[in-house]
Parts: sequence; C-alpha cells; structure tokens
Amino acid sequence: MIWRVRQAEIGGAAEVPGDKSIGHRALMIAALARGSSRITNLPTGADVASTATCLEALGIAVSRQNGTATVEGGEFQTGQLLDAGNSGTTMRLLTGLLAGQGVAAELAGDESLRRRPMGRIVEPLALMGANIRSTGGRPPLVLQESRLQGLVYQLPVASAQVKSSLLFAGLGAQGETTIIETLPTRDHTERMFGAAGITVESRGTQISIGGGQRPRPIEISIPGDLSSAAFLLVAAAIHGSTIRIRNVGLNPSRTGILDILRGAGCSVDVVHESERLGEPAGKIVLSGRPHGPIVIVPDRVPAVIDELPLLALLATQAPGMSTIEGASELRVKESDRIRSVAQTLTALGADIVERADGFTIRGPVKLRGTRVSSYGDHRIAMMLAIAGSIASGETVVEEAGAAAISFPEFPAILGALGGRIDVE
Ligand code: S3P
Repeated sequence: MIWRVRQAEIGGAAEVPGDKSIGHRALMIAALARGSSRITNLPTGADVASTATCLEALGIAVSRQNGTATVEGGEFQTGQLLDAGNSGTTMRLLTGLLAGQGVAAELAGDESLRRRPMGRIVEPLALMGANIRSTGGRPPLVLQESRLQGLVYQLPVASAQVKSSLLFAGLGAQGETTIIETLPTRDHTERMFGAAGITVESRGTQISIGGGQRPRPIEISIPGDLSSAAFLLVAAAIHGSTIRIRNVGLNPSRTGILDILRGAGCSVDVVHESERLGEPAGKIVLSGRPHGPIVIVPDRVPAVIDELPLLALLATQAPGMSTIEGASELRVKESDRIRSVAQTLTALGADIVERADGFTIRGPVKLRGTRVSSYGDHRIAMMLAIAGSIASGETVVEEAGAAAISFPEFPAILGALGGRIDVE
C-alpha cells in the first residue's frame, strides 16, 4: 500500500482508537481471571489482534465484535505454536505470563519481530527458573513447562515490556518478585493489576508482587491511545492550528508528549474526566506552534519513547537546535527508528544528524515532498504522512499499510481533519 499526501492544514476534533498497551494487558488479565470479562473500545490494530489470537490458540475463548471483546478466562492449553506477528508486547508479556503459569509454548513472529532482542526477558525469566530457548537472544522462543521462584531484579534497560513480562511471571511464581527500575516506564500493568484485585506495591523505583495471585474478571472501556493521538497533536502544532481529542488516555507515564509540546510553547489544556481500571482518561485541546527547540534528555526518553519519531519531525519545524539524547532503544523497535527517521526526514529536506543515541535537528526548514518508505514500521508511516501535510508537492509513503499495526483508522481520521491523503 502507498499513501499519496499533499499539503493541507490539519485541525478540528477527533477521537482515536483504544490504547494498544492497555488492550494487550486487558486481554491477558482477562485470560488469567476465572470468569467472564468485558472489554470495550478494544483497539482494532493488528498488534492487539495478535494477542487475542495467541490467547485463542491457548484455548481461551475470546469473542470480538465491533470493538467489544468478551473473554472467558481459564486453563491454558500447553504445547501450542503462537504467532505474535509484529508485536513485541505480545511476545514479551505473554512469555512472562505463560512461564508463570507453567505452560509450554513456542512463540514466533514476523521478520521485524525476529530481529528484536528477547534476551532482556529470557535472562531474568531463566533466573526465576524458566526454561526458554531462543535463537541467539531473538525469536522464536521455545518455552518448557517449569515452576518459577520470585526474584529481585534490577532492569538493565528502561522497558515497560520487560517489567510487565516479569510482573506477569511473578503472579504465578512462588514468593515475591521485586523489580527495580532505573527510570520509570509506563505503569499500565501495575495500575490494571491493582484494579483487578492483585496486590502490587510500588515504592519509588521498586515494584513488588506476591506470587500465587489471580486477577478478578474485569470490565473496561479502553481510553483512546495517546500515542495515536500524538500524530494529530503534532500535526496541529506544525500547522499552528487547534485540535481537540476526546476520550483519550491520560496516564501520567504516557503524557510526556504533552509536557514537551507545552515546553516548546504550544498551549495544551487537559481535562481529566474518568478513570477506567486505574487508567485516567479525558480530553486534550492543543493550539499554537512551537516557539523554541525540542530538547529531550535521557531521563525523559521512556515517557516519550513511541513519540520520538514525531518529535523529530516537530523539531524540523521548531526554531533553533533541537536535540534528542539517550534514545538508543529506538534502534531495536519495529525498525531502527534512529536510522529510519534520519533517512526519511533527510530525504524530505530536513537538517537532521543521526547520532548513536538520538538526533540533532536544526529548524525550521521547509520540507519538500518526495518518495519515502516506512521501513515497514507503523509509527514511521504515520509520521511521514504528517510530514507530507506540510511538505511542498507530493509525499509518497511506501509500505504505508504498516499503520494498521496500531492505527488502521489513521488515513480516514487524518482526512476528516482536513488532511489530503490518498490510499492506493
Ligand atoms: C510498550 C512499551 C514500550 C513501547 C511499546 C509498548 C508496552 O516498549 O515502545 O510500543 O505496552 O509496554 P519498551 O517497554 O520495550 O520500551
């Protein structure tokens, strides 16, 4: 699939599909519970569908209709072959969950997932007693039945996926599991576990969970995904227009993008309206353009990890020298996002220098449309479409279908907000 994008102002009001991180966790918690759970506004992207189909392959009844899933939790069938598709979250969290439940399985993935590091979960899970074979630290993962013991573990990388994998494993382990973070990462697992009746204790940088716990069945209407809304917020910021996003997740471990936009001089109003299974939600109104450079220091990286490609684009339109540092984790995402961002934005005329752990970007520059590839990466595809909305001429985004991983509705929503995007 390709997208042909032309210059057009983006603004107005929108709602985005449910949060991907919350969607994966809701399905997994529901599968562990004894009884029936109901999840509404389940994201429609392929990643969350991968989690649902893996759970079905494990013998869990998941019925999905019009964004509502009903899940009957129960025993997992052992020895199944599971396809996590493109989804690192599915593979990492599910491996921890299954290891904790003593279930054997083989977890495989697509070409992109097969390149992603799994040693970061295999090593601590092995310390807990899991028996997992990988291919040089990469998928596929072959998990044997085993019994786990709790452990105290300091995370060597700031990763919510690794933390959550160990928390899911810790649920089924003997004794207590304590995870120590060097930098705080998204805390959906902790919040949702707590709301599902699991005792999980967060003290500063330490999170502890006792073994032998089972969640209660859950009911949740998943708030919109702030990482999807971020494309629309940054689009409005680079056009200097106004945008309103309704029913969006406002978990403070995810709102770093709002702090950065505010710090750059945009006006950002946030109204908290509800809480869903421990997850705050509400609305955001943004207006105005960035007045100064975007500066992201290493401590701030986990709070904006998925928004960094977009923040690099924003930096091309922000006056001054912007810097993003301490973001080497971007190299092991769905693509090497430092390389894919630098190469595509350079092709569009940006003044951007690739660093080992980030970028240096001088702005503002006028972007010129050209042919660019998403590198098969959903967030790069959508960032390029937003770039195309300010670039002169036509921007052609190749491998644009990747957007369906997290946000299949993106071209339609962008079009409804004034974007000129043709799908071929
Ligand atoms: C996620 C955590 C992040 C993020 C990913 C989703 C999660 O990955 O990039 O899109 O749901 O826990 P890391 O924790 O590996 O940085």
